[in-house]
Amino acid sequence: MPPLQALQLLRELSPTVSVGLLTADLLRLGSEISLLERTGVRVAHVDVMDGCFVPAMTVGPPWIKALKGPLLKDVHLMVRDPIGKVADYVACGADVITVHVEADLHIHRVLQSLGKMVNANDPARGLVRGIALNPGTPVEALEPLLDEVEMVTLLAVNPGWGGQSFIPSTFARIEKVRRLLQQQKRDILLGVDGGVTRANIAEIGAAGADIIVTGSAVFDGKAPEENARFMLETLSRLHRPA
Ligand code: DX5
Ligand code: ZN
Repeated sequence: MPPLQALQLLRELSPTVSVGLLTADLLRLGSEISLLERTGVRVAHVDVMDGCFVPAMTVGPPWIKALKGPLLKDVHLMVRDPIGKVADYVACGADVITVHVEADLHIHRVLQSLGKMVNANDPARGLVRGIALNPGTPVEALEPLLDEVEMVTLLAVNPGWGGQSFIPSTFARIEKVRRLLQQQKRDILLGVDGGVTRANIAEIGAAGADIIVTGSAVFDGKAPEENARFMLETLSRLHRPA
């Protein structure tokens, strides 16, 4: 059987977690990734920060290229002017590549150009294009872009740092976007990123999020394996057949 396309696989897994790697023990990253694989996590989230769109700087293409194994690579670009940069991230094996609506004057063109690129891991897998919205950006900004994306991600914190608290008004935004996506003919995933914990993941999944990013609540320095299993089991009770 040919490999499931990335979008179809993510839809079948929904709701599921995409685990933020930057809060892992980066000096033991290989064993942290094995730990995630053991629990059944299928998607790894990489936060790319450029020191410009957000104050911090994190990792770039070589780091992402070094990530090997079966986890889908969900690359969240918090970078200004991604137009000239996305090709490098695709070349290093992103399966999902998310850009911010606030990050480029020509965001539609960025998405169009991503639409012409192929998944470097396996062209048959397809590349999932995501658009992310900061908490202060009206969801109406999505409407002209929906023909060019396979995923919409709502930031539930202001981007730039892990370990922040979930902004409660995100629930109303999830509801609005869920309705907007239901009206589309194409399948578009709904992601939520930031402030997800063991205490709120069930509510976020029940609200309609498909891909739920969680970082510091998994890699809490105490029980990452147990945390990841808890998140997956909680969401499996909400499983929505594709
Ligand atoms: C925010 C990032 C998030 C964040 C997730 O800038 O996009 O992915 O690091 O971390 P937690 O789960 O700790 O909020
Ligand atoms: Zn992120």
